[in-house]
Amino acid sequence: MRIACLFNNDYEFVAGAGADAAAVRASAEAICTALGDAGHEAQLVSLQGRDLMSVVGKLEAQRPDLVFNLCESLCGIAANEVAVPAVLDLYGIPYTGSDAPALALALNKGRCKDVMHGRGISTPPYRVMLNVADIERVAAEPLDYPWFLKLANEDASVGITEANVLADGAGLLARAKQLHAEYGSPLLAERYVPGREVNVTILGSGASTRLLPLHEIDFGLMPAGRPHIVSYAAKWDEKHVDYAGTKPVPIRGASDALIAAIERTARAAWDAIGLRDYGRVDLRIDPAGTPWVIDVNPNCDISPDAGVARAAAAAGWSFPTLIGTIAELALKRYKKVAAS
Ligand SMILES: Nc1ncnc2c1ncn2[C@@H]1O[C@H](COP(=O)(O)OP(=O)(O)O)[C@@H](O)[C@H]1O
Ligand SMILES: [Mg+2]
Repeated sequence: MRIACLFNNDYEFVAGAGADAAAVRASAEAICTALGDAGHEAQLVSLQGRDLMSVVGKLEAQRPDLVFNLCESLCGIAANEVAVPAVLDLYGIPYTGSDAPALALALNKGRCKDVMHGRGISTPPYRVMLNVADIERVAAEPLDYPWFLKLANEDASVGITEANVLADGAGLLARAKQLHAEYGSPLLAERYVPGREVNVTILGSGASTRLLPLHEIDFGLMPAGRPHIVSYAAKWDEKHVDYAGTKPVPIRGASDALIAAIERTARAAWDAIGLRDYGRVDLRIDPAGTPWVIDVNPNCDISPDAGVARAAAAAGWSFPTLIGTIAELALKRYKKVAAS
């Protein structure tokens, strides 16, 4: 198969993003190589800033069998990623991963939770705050603290530090105002769920999906007194204490009933948001053993050292097997649509 690996090369729009740019390119190269190892003819295609239409126009002329969509932002803005599948659909070019509505919904955490809440999926109670008046109103509510704050339209733990665990309304008011001033972004507050954090990797689409072996975050090396959360530093700063304190490991000592509840809840979230091909649902498990969905990640990181590849390795898959499988799942989906 001829596959174009399309990745975002939009770092002229992001101040000081040199290291990220190198990591994104290295990840795209690794995926391109893996597709070659899986027997495909793969080519790297970089998408700069606002070149989406001209790049897709060229792809239309080349007619690859598939675009492997690795774009996680355009012009340095994560919410723009939604344009990529929308334009590929416009041109009728097959691509891997979730479509525009699913990406848009997942990156609007308030709406995403509205949908899950509407479907009765277990997700912590929440409030969306668009401006300072909203922040003041929510801070005055008698919430059952602790609660947690995050940016409503970001991922990758941007804006998340230990200060986002809130003990009371005064704490919410101060931290939310600070985040709002710093990022100018809508905020989401939700009830803090103490306990384990589990990552569920799902592959497939429609009625035929499969789960890869579950992983959880081992907080064992987190210094005493620091909250057990995966902060920005935990994800991106190898020298930070949070990095060593948030080690992903295969899930341990979970009962069959707990595993079943986690899997049922994760699948329900996947279906509700409309994910396909590959994705990850993150949950926290409260001390009573109830799973709560905290994050739904379509088109999540599939670099060789990220969670999906870790889950695939636990299933005995090599990296080329994982990447080749995602490509085949996407193609099968298009063939099914064409046949129906
Ligand atoms: N309701 C919550 N209770 C406890 N911890 C949370 C909650 N929501 C998020 N976190 C912590 O913050 C981290 C990042 O939040 P998440 O919602 O996954 O955002 P992102 O899209 O940035 O990954 C999670 O991995 C988890 O450790
Ligand atoms: Mg997350």
